[in-house]
Amino acid sequence: MKDSKKYSIEEIDILKGLKNKNQKTINSKFFYNKRGSILFDKITKQTEYYPTKTEIDILIKQKLNISKLLPEAATIIEFGSGSNKKITNFVKALKNPKRYFPVDISREYLLSNSEEFAKAFPNIKVEPICIDFVNIKPNEKKRIESMLKVSEDVIGFFPGSTIGNFEPNNAQNLLKNFSKLLDKKNHLVIGVDLLKKKEILENAYNDKCGYTAEFNANVLKRLNKEFSANFNFSEFRHYAFFNKSKSRIEMHLISNINQSVDILNETIYFKKGESIHTENSYKYSQDVFEDLISKSGFVKKSLFTDSNNFFAVYLLEVV
Ligand code: TRP
Repeated sequence: MKDSKKYSIEEIDILKGLKNKNQKTINSKFFYNKRGSILFDKITKQTEYYPTKTEIDILIKQKLNISKLLPEAATIIEFGSGSNKKITNFVKALKNPKRYFPVDISREYLLSNSEEFAKAFPNIKVEPICIDFVNIKPNEKKRIESMLKVSEDVIGFFPGSTIGNFEPNNAQNLLKNFSKLLDKKNHLVIGVDLLKKKEILENAYNDKCGYTAEFNANVLKRLNKEFSANFNFSEFRHYAFFNKSKSRIEMHLISNINQSVDILNETIYFKKGESIHTENSYKYSQDVFEDLISKSGFVKKSLFTDSNNFFAVYLLEVV
């Protein structure tokens, strides 16, 4: 990159990914603008996409057990809050929760959901935090720490198997950061998608209505709008498959033809069939996940699953 000085951090990130000679990539955080968040919400309602439904079922069924294990009058901090569905069922399992701090990168969506939540739970104080929780800046960290200090007990909530969207190394770093932020004796309730048959996994990321495909392609729309690119959407197709050796669903956008795309004063060339890797969704066995937890400053207090063993909700404590 010649004149990298004039580019913002986000622009450098995007160009670096698209110019990678081995495998073009786009960081999946660019999925989550308003349209991306709305599309993701639609994905969660598709029959094939079992994770959200299964996780919510677990939260509802295990309400009493969850309530017994978690402190009263706590502050809840949710990482990547997205829609209100999960938190709504989670707070119903808690005794007299006092505060709710939703953290999300997608501002408009965060604010409207926070308002809605506050109306539904007038006794819970809501304070939205619009940041990228993967790269918390020092001033943001200070602000969050001082917000958490007002409460004796803090419960982190990290549902949706968002942890699966990180490379295992990064997942460990992220969990370590959470354990430091939450501090000793506090809890983290985390949802994780478990390994299962390839067909079930692949169907979940190839819904018949095409919302996952639209969600994937939406990232190109965003690059066109916000990063002066000229992607021709009709010449890229959604492709999601289970990579067994890496234990992950991979999402790609594949170029239908040889083509070039202009973006931020650069030209990117695509061969027919070449892909942009846009997302991973790691699927864990309980053993591997519990190993990850123990390396990240947590100890397992309890584990809840569904009757098919599709999804796990872990209740962890910071050590
Ligand atoms: N963490 C969820 C999952 O991996 C949600 C998600 C993130 C997702 N990115 C996605 C779902 C892309 C579909 C497509 O399933």
